[in-house]
Amino acid sequence: MALKLGDLAPSFVAETTQGEIDFHKYIDGSWAILFSHPNDFTPVCTTELGAVGKFMPEFEKRGVKVLALSCNDVESHKAWIKDIESFTPEAQVSYPIISDPKRDLAVQFGMLDPDEQDAAGIPLTARAVYVFGPDKKLKLSILYPATTGRNFHEVLRVIDSLQLTANHSVATPVNWNAGDKCMVVPGLSNEAAAAKFPKGFETIEVPSGKQYIRLTPQPNI
Ligand code: BEZ
Repeated sequence: MALKLGDLAPSFVAETTQGEIDFHKYIDGSWAILFSHPNDFTPVCTTELGAVGKFMPEFEKRGVKVLALSCNDVESHKAWIKDIESFTPEAQVSYPIISDPKRDLAVQFGMLDPDEQDAAGIPLTARAVYVFGPDKKLKLSILYPATTGRNFHEVLRVIDSLQLTANHSVATPVNWNAGDKCMVVPGLSNEAAAAKFPKGFETIEVPSGKQYIRLTPQPNI
């Protein structure tokens, strides 16, 4: 059964390239991202893990703990890290990679890709991204097939949006990027919004006359 938004993160203990990790203890009141990969020593995965290694300062700046998963053993992961860092020289794979050779976690999280299988005919893990909040609840999930690499600029962008919503009661509009105007969430009255946003907000007039499109400068800059 796939995880749903708002679900508590499954509690599990896993072998990783940095020793045994208890996921709930690892999260420990922080934001966390768990992202999965089909297989070690495969081309798209190598580019993705390098991109995450390069972006580690960005995840750290946002207070996000990073954890990867791939369907191979720890020895294989450790050998593969050398290739990843060679292919993306700016990257350091300083985050742990879970070993999930029997797909136990992939099944638990509902992230198998039936179209891609290993030599033994076992489905590979798809490219899933799970972002958990400090309350250990799922705030965002995305699921790509094994053949499509993710955009980790987009992953950082959605983390910025999630954190703005959690901390400042704003939503982010289509194609929003950090620094752009945000939107007052529909559940906030005009009075509450006036008190909450010292920089003010503007209400956009629309034919219906309903005052639901309210823009405000990004609150945390
Ligand atoms: C890759 O990472 O390149 C890949 C892995 C599994 C299936 C297809 C592509």
